[in-house]
Amino acid sequence: MDPDFWRARWREGRIGFHQAEINPHLLKWRSQIEARGRVLVPLAGKSRDLRWLAQDGEVVIGVELVEDAVRAFFEEQDVPYQRQPGQKGVRYEGDGIVFWAGDFFALPKEALSGIDWVYDRAALIALPPALRERYVGRLAELLRPGAEILLVALEHHPALDGPPFYVDRAEVERLYAEHFVITELERVQGPADNPKFRQAGLEVMTEVVYRVQRR
Ligand SMILES: C[S@@+](CC[C@H](N)C(=O)[O-])C[C@H]1O[C@@H](n2cnc3c(N)ncnc32)[C@H](O)[C@@H]1O
Repeated sequence: MDPDFWRARWREGRIGFHQAEINPHLLKWRSQIEARGRVLVPLAGKSRDLRWLAQDGEVVIGVELVEDAVRAFFEEQDVPYQRQPGQKGVRYEGDGIVFWAGDFFALPKEALSGIDWVYDRAALIALPPALRERYVGRLAELLRPGAEILLVALEHHPALDGPPFYVDRAEVERLYAEHFVITELERVQGPADNPKFRQAGLEVMTEVVYRVQRR
């Protein structure tokens, strides 16, 4: 999506994707990911999951386009931070969390080096098809063989536009199969809580959790 789309959503407080609680799939499936160490959280919003990961002993590298969201994260979590502006992004750091305010596609590779695993909740599914390919290409470039991804994808209805976009198993295969091994962990059907989709008559949607490993 156009960066201005996301800036407007944050400015206007249209952030229905933000969760007050730690994501249940992260709580349930973290133990299925063997990697520990440095976790990348791309397109991170101001998710509390970053804090949970840091408290679980990970070094967390978050990336979020909108700087107000990054600042809100530290302020709402009551984490003291240091802010360092750079050429391609602004680096925030506090309490085991390095959080880049910048474009995931433009940040220099060194800013995102040494990643052991990736936590993707509402990142891939926030992107339209062409950007999804760039996103997965970037992950393939950043991750060493054996590195893992905990991916939460969403199946609503293929005719409905996003974000969040409809990303089914076939799309996950199309995007990742060349460089990654894909394992489906769980499918969870629940009510369609997105007002846009409810208006379109959708009642249920399915979150699908995958473990994806770099070949
Ligand atoms: C659907 S939200 C999900 C946020 C978070 N993962 C969560 O679970 O709350 C997607 C986020 O990605 C950010 N974003 C979109 N494009 C981006 C990009 N190119 N680089 C970094 N962040 C981006 C948006 O500003 C938005 O906060």
